[in-house]
Amino acid sequence: ISILVLYILCCLYYKGVDTALEYILYLCPKFIESFCQLQVEDDDKIGLYSYKVQSTITSRLANTMIQAKMVNNAKRSQHIVFDVQVPKGAFIDNFTMDVNGITFTSSIREKSEARRMYSQAKAKGKAAGIVRSNALDMENFKTEVNVPPGTRIQFELHYQEMIRRKLSSYEHVISMKPGRLAKHMEVDVRIIEPQGLRYVHVPNSLGDHFNGITTISKGEKKAHVSFKPTMAQQRKCPTCSSTAVDGNFVVQYDVNRENTGGELEIFNGYFIHFFAPENLDPLPKNILFVIDVSGSMWGLKMKQTIEAMKAILSELRAADQFSLIDFNHNVRCWRDNLVSATPVQVEDAKKYIQTIHPNGGTNINEALLRATFILNEAQNLGMLDPNSVSMIVLVSDGDPTVGELKLTTIQKNVKQSIKDEFSLFCLGIGFDVDYDFLQRIATDNRGMAQRIFGNQETSAQMKKFYNQVSTPLLKKIQFNYPQESVSDVTQSSFHNYFGGSEIVVAGKVDTENLQHLESIVTATAANAELVMETLRDVEELDGFMKKDKYADPEFTKKLWAYLTVNQMLAERNTAPTAALKRNITKSILQMSLDHHIVTPFTAMLIENSEKDEIMLADQPKDPRRGCCSGQCLSLSVPSYTNQLGKPLTGIGLLITPLSFLCVSVDNDPHFIIYLPKSQRNICFNINSEPGDILNLVSDRGTGVVVNGQLIGAKKAENKKLDTYFGKIGFYFKNKGLKVEINTEKITLKDGSYSILCFLSARLLISVKKESNVTITVGEEMSFMVLLHRVWKNHPVNVDFLGIYIPPENQLSPEAHGLIGQFASEPEVYIHHQRPGQIPEKPQATMEVKGNKLTVTRGLQKDYRTDRVYGTNVQCWFVHNSGKGFIDGHYKDYLVPHLYSFLKKP
Ligand SMILES: *[C@@H]1O[C@H](CO)[C@@H](O)[C@H](O)[C@H]1NC(C)=O
Ligand SMILES: *[C@@H]1O[C@H](CO)[C@@H](O)[C@H](O)[C@H]1NC(C)=O
Ligand SMILES: *[C@@H]1O[C@H](CO)[C@@H](O)[C@H](O)[C@H]1NC(C)=O
Repeated sequence: ISILVLYILCCLYYKGVDTALEYILYLCPKFIESFCQLQVEDDDKIGLYSYKVQSTITSRLANTMIQAKMVNNAKRSQHIVFDVQVPKGAFIDNFTMDVNGITFTSSIREKSEARRMYSQAKAKGKAAGIVRSNALDMENFKTEVNVPPGTRIQFELHYQEMIRRKLSSYEHVISMKPGRLAKHMEVDVRIIEPQGLRYVHVPNSLGDHFNGITTISKGEKKAHVSFKPTMAQQRKCPTCSSTAVDGNFVVQYDVNRENTGGELEIFNGYFIHFFAPENLDPLPKNILFVIDVSGSMWGLKMKQTIEAMKAILSELRAADQFSLIDFNHNVRCWRDNLVSATPVQVEDAKKYIQTIHPNGGTNINEALLRATFILNEAQNLGMLDPNSVSMIVLVSDGDPTVGELKLTTIQKNVKQSIKDEFSLFCLGIGFDVDYDFLQRIATDNRGMAQRIFGNQETSAQMKKFYNQVSTPLLKKIQFNYPQESVSDVTQSSFHNYFGGSEIVVAGKVDTENLQHLESIVTATAANAELVMETLRDVEELDGFMKKDKYADPEFTKKLWAYLTVNQMLAERNTAPTAALKRNITKSILQMSLDHHIVTPFTAMLIENSEKDEIMLADQPKDPRRGCCSGQCLSLSVPSYTNQLGKPLTGIGLLITPLSFLCVSVDNDPHFIIYLPKSQRNICFNINSEPGDILNLVSDRGTGVVVNGQLIGAKKAENKKLDTYFGKIGFYFKNKGLKVEINTEKITLKDGSYSILCFLSARLLISVKKESNVTITVGEEMSFMVLLHRVWKNHPVNVDFLGIYIPPENQLSPEAHGLIGQFASEPEVYIHHQRPGQIPEKPQATMEVKGNKLTVTRGLQKDYRTDRVYGTNVQCWFVHNSGKGFIDGHYKDYLVPHLYSFLKKP
């Protein structure tokens, strides 16, 4: 009876009845100890033969299997427990159990259906399995089976998750708590990353005990990590019967990122876009720290918070603005407005923090409203840099006790005052805090939340969390894909991108009718508007994937499902109406059933083949909320092969379709003029306005005119609007024919001609649909117009035309125009080649037409042979719209109509 009383008292104490007396505190551990000893004796009768973990990471998609083989060595029936931890947010997708050769398999069902089936069976007294959530980063999956003596039993659990990039590394965490010594123990982690592995590291997270036992073999794109401690190595001490394996096995790695823009991976009808640009200047931030200093923070928590805050304040950058708010039942501000993070201000803030003595209640509502007021006011007064990122960081360890107490009202108030202008990040310390609430208000306001333990490591964990958001590199990031080829794209616009994280976007892609997938990402960086393009062959990964027997051929599909389900869970959380919530629930349920995963709306039924024994794996609470840190998304700039182009065989004009991050020079019509005698390519751009008509060829001798009209891109880049040819007009005066080609159609003007006349005019127009038009005039002349189509609703580019004029064209000596003038080749002399500002772009002096010009070596693209990627052509680039190389000024080539001859000079 005394044991029973003690037991009840202990339970009361641990359940938080704070009137428990001192001596219970003293007695409870003793009691638990002796109780545990009893357990240990029992446990010894359960043999763990083998404990195996296998993980395969295919491009961030980790499939993990945990397998345990056990036997009941006792002389009576007993419970055998398989209790493992699965990372929060991972999806359990399979569980099998083998009891003395009888196999139990699992199926995913809608939750209430699974429960009904189970309760019908349970009435017959069968065993049960449950997935129980716990409050930390992990969730338990626990199965308990009562088996007779001598029973051999094997458990196998499979789960999948997407590994997120945090603080510049991917971290794969495997919980290793076998509970007892295992005869065979083995952890195998295989990593397959098509982008290539930068490094693979296994920190000593299981303790020094296991130094030197892990082996890592790393290749260019693959790695294998193996951890196989013998039974002797598992023992806590040479004579101990308990295991030292108790903690997390962690593998860290990062991938290569050759292109600033990231990586587009296409496989099996899905695409995944990984975006993690580096080497960008940080955006300035406006940050308000809101710190709970209520009585419950007293002691270690406050000490650790002060330590963390001092380090965090020291890391603010000179361009940042900040202030501090501390609150209990009252709200105090260190400064009533934002101040610059100068060394003096930072020192003062640190002193202020140091003097805080926690006491009193918790008024979260008032504190957050004060913080948003300060930010809103600074914004209204124009004190915030337009390129800056504003955020509030809340640190709290408890629920509101003063002021507004209703959580939904606080959430509404905060949302209303933040108005989607700032981000709110929440740190919940310890277990008294309603972490779900913190997570809800954070995801509701473009932020994220994290729970930390409130122990000795609090300070380090706070700093780690802060470091994830301390370096905003981009804002207003928008991912675009051709709408006609992709569907079901996951979240594609993001408020911020933080250094060290990764953004991931996924979608379905119709590869049947597509050779290449293109994407454009636009974003605001510290000193520029960026436009980043990616172009990928849809079959590029096929060969690589076929060759690797470990790679998961479904990785793209699973990553897409992972992102989609997590996104819907987040949307459901903040859905404004019950009807919408029901709709989202329905979609999540369908996805869970289609992809065979356990989510908050499904449960797993575990049955033997006879279907007379049934177990239920269910998840009682804890909807996994939203996407987590770093808002994962990605994109890449294409890795064009740097093929040196063959020289063009004639005089030509070609236009590059897209500009890249690295191309800072003009993106206007690129002229490539090939000079056959000196065998050189000379390039120049024309900087003109949309609507302008430029004369290309004007030959009164043969009566031929070719003009091109410019159109603008949809969006200016670095304040400059790119222009392209949208319309090209041909006038063959001697034949009385006008031809207009635009990106939509070809029109013959002066249609009084019959087909016969047309034929007798010996003019042939051959059209390759959606590709090119060739106009041939007798044997003397031909012109080719190439169509460059961009996808519908492309954010920047428009459809445009390129024109190519071969050298054999017999133009008369009177020919003029931007291209026509080069029918008679000028003398060009290039000398004094020297290094330029950029090593790959040497400079030289060019003498032409009596002018001395500085020219730069560069590459331009010729799209005749490869209409998608183009072929690089080396040329000497003439600056200032071709000044000195062309006769006169480029404005002399502007004409009033699509069929105008150039005025005589
Ligand atoms: C679950 O795992 C078992 C054993 O590995 C396998 O035979 C079965 O096909 C798996 N089921 C599913 C749906 O993946
Ligand atoms: C729910 O989904 C149905 C069908 O998909 C749609 O017609 C309806 O408008 C949706 N309701 C809401 C509130 O979104
Ligand atoms: C232009 O079209 C013809 C067919 O009319 C085709 O053979 C040729 O390859 C096309 N050229 C380019 C550059 O697309």
